[in-house]
Amino acid sequence: MPSQEMRHAMIEAPLGDDVFGDDPTTNRLLEVAARRMGKAAATFVPSGTMGNLIGVAVNAQRGQEMIADADSHIFNSEAAGAAAVCGVQIRQVSTKGGVMRPDQIVAAVRPRDDPHHPISAAVTFEDTHNRHGGIVWPLEALRDASRAAHEQGLRVHLDGARIFNAAVALGVEASEIAAYADTVTFCLSKGLACPIGSIFCGSEADIESATRWRKRLGGGMRQVGVLAAAGLIALDHMVDRLAEDHANARTLAEGLAEIRGVSCDLSRVQTNLVYFDVENMPAAAFDDECVKRGLLGGATGAHTIRFVTHYGITSEDVQSALQICDGVLSA
Ligand SMILES: Cc1ncc(COP(=O)(O)O)c(C=O)c1O
Repeated sequence: MPSQEMRHAMIEAPLGDDVFGDDPTTNRLLEVAARRMGKAAATFVPSGTMGNLIGVAVNAQRGQEMIADADSHIFNSEAAGAAAVCGVQIRQVSTKGGVMRPDQIVAAVRPRDDPHHPISAAVTFEDTHNRHGGIVWPLEALRDASRAAHEQGLRVHLDGARIFNAAVALGVEASEIAAYADTVTFCLSKGLACPIGSIFCGSEADIESATRWRKRLGGGMRQVGVLAAAGLIALDHMVDRLAEDHANARTLAEGLAEIRGVSCDLSRVQTNLVYFDVENMPAAAFDDECVKRGLLGGATGAHTIRFVTHYGITSEDVQSALQICDGVLSA
């Protein structure tokens, strides 16, 4: 949920028409966002999903292929936008922990001299990786994967919906991560607490193409400075505090692992996401009971639950959450 400071900034924001590039608050945000990602330019999009869809459209043509992790958000949770809207096929690669190895990228590239095959145009990486537990790519692994992709003539899109969680976990600037991608999407919503909004960043040419795609998709928004105002506060005040969410997630995961009937792989708890299994109860029933007691999470599999720590959740809340889980499982 947005902070009071964000809400005030949204009321006060100077506005113009961003479809004409005339919204001063949005322009200021785009400048800051591009700089934080180390890219030449940026554009504001309504969601991470649209940012990723534009990432597909900018980096691959109709009839071509984009390589993605089999558990990626782009492949599983974006309503097949790559195929349905861009005519781009996703080639899935199964990875250990969401981290694609250079040899896997090389092996996934199609032979160029055989017209039976689609043309491999791009690869996408997800950092942090949601379905793999919010894991962070080691920088060297990202560097090596990116180098392998570029050597194969692929463009690299980074789904950095939670790139700032990765940056805080690694103790680096987000630009050091984004440096290994040609284009990057990151979310102002989610951990950065904005009500709405994501940013797509890349070269000037990428953003020219992205802005046309955004218009085509209906994502050109007029006085979007109302939202950008919250984004500026997010980038100034909400990044460093993510460390608190990570510490809370760790305490939560360690506490859950001690509860009978719960299994939680602590090695995957590296940022603000906590995935765990409730062994003797359907996840949906567990979740329903938690909701009744005021604890909001989500069932992501038959026995799997995801909890997220974020702005507004305190260490006391974590202790109450653990008590509620214990109560539900021992009822
Ligand atoms: C890794 C990842 N990418 C993209 C998205 C899409 O973001 P949005 O919900 O803003 O469309 C999400 C949403 O959870 C995500 O986890």
